[in-house]
Amino acid sequence: MPKHILILNGSPRHNGNTANLISWLNNTLQNAKHTVSQHDLYPLNFKGCKHCDACKKNSANPACILQDDFTPILEDIVAADIIVIASPIYCWSFSGCMSTALDRFYCLFKRKGPSLFAGKKFVGLFTAGGDYFDGMELCVTGLKELTQHGQAEYVGTVSAIFCDDKPMQEQKQRLTEALTDLVTKL
Ligand SMILES: Cc1cc2nc3c(=O)[nH]c(=O)nc-3n(C[C@H](O)[C@H](O)[C@H](O)COP(=O)(O)O)c2cc1C
Repeated sequence: MPKHILILNGSPRHNGNTANLISWLNNTLQNAKHTVSQHDLYPLNFKGCKHCDACKKNSANPACILQDDFTPILEDIVAADIIVIASPIYCWSFSGCMSTALDRFYCLFKRKGPSLFAGKKFVGLFTAGGDYFDGMELCVTGLKELTQHGQAEYVGTVSAIFCDDKPMQEQKQRLTEALTDLVTKL
């Protein structure tokens, strides 16, 4: 069945490693009849959660009181079936803009009733200069926790490591195979 896939890109670099990985995911998806849309977070103007809890008074909508470039993205997240979190690893964590975006997910967790993530699928695409244990494993763990908390399903991770020493093109075959395998689970 065709799905709506939403990619959130946390890299500032247009032709960087994460952009490569996303483009290979798109190639892999070309034969499937899914709808794919993407938001590049870095150029956008948005803040992190201010913890006013206004969102907790409305169980049906994001209802985030902040009105900024992330407001329409929240609507897109609610409409999506599959959410791809694509980020470089920065300082043993997500990139800054991705971290800010994840903060804003707070409004999708409701006090009454299911979260607005319930039933969705999550995928992690990560690129790193170091190995898997130079921060990527922490992001995967965090994303799995977030997914579980939201009654969603974490489908899997595609990880490109040692990107600063080993050009992405050299990893293309392995990564394309991993992406192809992942897409069959969507
Ligand atoms: C500010 C900054 C912090 C970084 N911190 C880490 C890190 O903690 N662990 C790691 O493995 N790589 C780290 N890197 C390397 C990036 O994760 C790697 O180069 C990544 O593939 C860049 O993705 P991009 O080309 O899509 O921007 C860091 C890079 C930058 C610029």
